[in-house]
Amino acid sequence: MSVPDAFAQKVEEAIRNPKNVGELEGADAVGTVGSGDCGDMLRMWVKFREEDGKRVIDRATFQTFGCETAIAVASLATEMIAGKTPEEALAMSGEELAAPLGPLPPVKIHCAQLVEGALRSALGSDPGEGRGPETAAPAPTLIQQFTSGATKKVVIAKKHD
Ligand code: FES
Repeated sequence: MSVPDAFAQKVEEAIRNPKNVGELEGADAVGTVGSGDCGDMLRMWVKFREEDGKRVIDRATFQTFGCETAIAVASLATEMIAGKTPEEALAMSGEELAAPLGPLPPVKIHCAQLVEGALRSALGSDPGEGRGPETAAPAPTLIQQFTSGATKKVVIAKKHD
């Protein structure tokens, strides 16, 4: 099987039963970003728990107006970051979050970066609108934000052309 075919098959498997889709009730943080490349959007919710005196990610969920790759990477990412500290999760690049899918085709790299951006936004480390939960005003729904065009765009380093 060629690399593009293997990638397409893994994406298909991941989106057949995506994990952790939807708003996370009682989330401690939320981050929303849009892609400057394709105009898609992704929102991620994160809930923490205490473990051995450390704050770790208990659960993360997502919603997206994005392509199949973005859905697949976000689904994988929400599973991969569970149990990690925010610092450990922030240390992961989009490429690492997408690693189970195999090497990303160049045109799909920005999809993984969208997931990375939403995670960074949720964890308060740019580039979107991460916010602590309980103290913040309710966020607009993803569709409200999508149609308003008020979402910060992920700045994507061009590693290809
Ligand atoms: Fe927009 Fe993949 S093409 S997120």
